[in-house]
Amino acid sequence: MTHRLPTLEDLGELRGKRVLVRLDLNVPLGTDADGKRVVTDDFRIRAALPTLTWLLNHGARVTACTHLGRPAGAPDPRYDVEPVREVLAAMIPGVELLENLRFSPGEKGNDPAFVAALIEGQDCFVNDAFGVCHRSDASVVGPPKFLPSAAGRLVQREVEQLGGLLENPARPFVVIIGGAKVADKLGLLETLATLADSLLIGGAMAFTFTQALGEGTGDSIVDVSKLEACKAMLSERDNIVLPLDFVAAAPGVELQRDSWKGQQDDVVTDSGASDPEAVKVVGRSIPEGWTGYDIGPATAELFSKAVADAATVLWNGPMGVFEDPRFAAGTRTVAQAVADCTGRTVIGGGDSVAAVNRYGLADRIGHISTGGGASLELLEHGDLPGLKALRESLARTTAGNGDG
Ligand code: 3PG
Ligand code: MG
Repeated sequence: MTHRLPTLEDLGELRGKRVLVRLDLNVPLGTDADGKRVVTDDFRIRAALPTLTWLLNHGARVTACTHLGRPAGAPDPRYDVEPVREVLAAMIPGVELLENLRFSPGEKGNDPAFVAALIEGQDCFVNDAFGVCHRSDASVVGPPKFLPSAAGRLVQREVEQLGGLLENPARPFVVIIGGAKVADKLGLLETLATLADSLLIGGAMAFTFTQALGEGTGDSIVDVSKLEACKAMLSERDNIVLPLDFVAAAPGVELQRDSWKGQQDDVVTDSGASDPEAVKVVGRSIPEGWTGYDIGPATAELFSKAVADAATVLWNGPMGVFEDPRFAAGTRTVAQAVADCTGRTVIGGGDSVAAVNRYGLADRIGHISTGGGASLELLEHGDLPGLKALRESLARTTAGNGDG
């Protein structure tokens, strides 16, 4: 029996109750002029505010918790939550934030004793940590076994937006997938190829597909272990669209990953490498010794046209190494097309989100997921451990009274 996801309303009267809220405040950090650790992108903190505000307005006493980075199950000053705590307190006073959950091995180990300590004294649990719902970590799947539990507003919205793509997308439904690692996304590509009207593939993962077609890929990234799977997909599906051209670099040209990534400024540094012999547009086949780092202009135009005509668009993963200004045009053009699309638009995955932020287009996207891996796993599998735990919690509290 499939239960719906419990929402904040399902928690009932909250006045004076203690509510533990799992958030994903795993945000990028940098250092300021004094060497102090500071939050460089507060997107996930802002995304947590609707739930926290709602709980406080309903009289709850709120304790929030999060992981930050990947410390090795022990306290580590590089990962303490202090910088996050400061930003959160400035945005919304009255919320206590516990120390990094991953300072204890019990979090990743899903240790029952750790869960027990976490929920001690709490009356209810809210999971609003969408970005970590694909992890069976203690704080994600543990508390719903013991406390009345609900999805927060962010988790609710993510599930509606991403789940809605799987259910009944308005057509044409166009999916653009990029990024480097084809192995990570093969299952997702297979799922999406059955749902979408067209599946446009860019980024380095495109080279495993073009090689499967017999094209030259030069020194570009190719996952040879996935060649057969890509070949099979291409022969089974006629809705997969591969790049027509690429921007490639000559042998010996080094990437320049500039420093803006994750920041909001709009300074494109002069790459200092406008040498036409070093970087050029090539066709679908990459010359021997050259490396493809971006889709070419004809491909960017083809993808943009498909997006312009779409009623639903899902975009995940950059089209090239957009940290290097010489290989940013493909990602920028696609980002612009998604922003201009009048249909429903959804972006998932850290790098594509960084791109729309970078180009100042975030306000013009229908839904920007706070989850990288979580959004992809939800799209691929239709469910996540953290969501399942919440539904099971509702099933338990309603068992025997005919609901469900
Ligand atoms: C993320 O940033 O992807 C989430 O916070 C999950 O973090 P994790 O990949 O370290 O589990
Ligand atoms: Mg991740």
